[in-house]
Amino acid sequence: MGTMIIDGRKIEFTDEKNVLTVIRKAGINIPTLCYHSEVSTFGACRLCTVEDDRGKTFASCSEKPRDGMVIYTNSGRIKKYRKLIVELLLAAHCRDCTTCVKSGECVLQELAHRLGVQNIRFKNTREHYELDTSSPSLVRDPNKCILCGDCVRACEEIQGIGALGFAFRGTEAIVMPAFNKKIADTQCVNCGQCRVYCPTGAIAIKTHMDEVWEALADPNVRVVAQIAPAVRVA
Ligand code: FES
Repeated sequence: MGTMIIDGRKIEFTDEKNVLTVIRKAGINIPTLCYHSEVSTFGACRLCTVEDDRGKTFASCSEKPRDGMVIYTNSGRIKKYRKLIVELLLAAHCRDCTTCVKSGECVLQELAHRLGVQNIRFKNTREHYELDTSSPSLVRDPNKCILCGDCVRACEEIQGIGALGFAFRGTEAIVMPAFNKKIADTQCVNCGQCRVYCPTGAIAIKTHMDEVWEALADPNVRVVAQIAPAVRVA
C-alpha cells in the first residue's frame, strides 16, 4: 500500500502485483506484448519499460510497486526505446503482413502503426522455418514468432499441457514442441489457447474446415475444449 507519482500524478496503490498494473489503474495505456495478468510474468518483450526519477529504466510488469516511486511512462527516451524494440521485432519477422491471416488484429502490426515504425534498418538474420500444418486445428509459423512466450505459458499454465517450449538461444531461439516434433505428434489437445494468446500470426486457426472435421473424426485426435475461443482473456 502506498503512493506513486506517475507522469506527475499522485496514484495510490494497494496490493497491485506490479508497477504496470498501477500504471493501467491510472488510465495510462502503455504497450505490452508478453504480459497477461492470469499467467506468470515473463518480462520478455520490454515494451512496458518505464523510467524513474533517477533515470533508471525497467520493465514495469516485472517490478513491484513501492511507496514514493516516481515514474515516467512516456518520456522521449522511453518512446525511442519502444519504437526501437518494435523495429527489432519486425526485423526478425517475416514481412507478408498484407496476406497474413492475423492482419488487422496483429498486436505487433498495431504497435508498429501506433509507434510510427515506417522502415526497418536491420537485416533479418533468422533462419527460415517450415510451417507446421500437422495439427487438425492450428497452423504454426515460426517465422512470425516474436518469442514472447505467451503460447508456452497459456499451454502450460492455463491448459496444463505444455506442448510448446523454448529451444536454442540467441538468434537461433525458437518456440517449438519438444524434440522438434510436429504439433500433431505432441500431447496438444487442439484447444486453441495458444492461438488466443499469440499476438502475431505465428499460431493461426486452420481454416480448411473439411480437413479439420475429417481430422477431428480421427479417434486418435484428442479434443477437450473448443477449437477457437473467440475471446482473449484480458
Ligand atoms: Fe513487460 Fe513484456 S510486457 S516485458
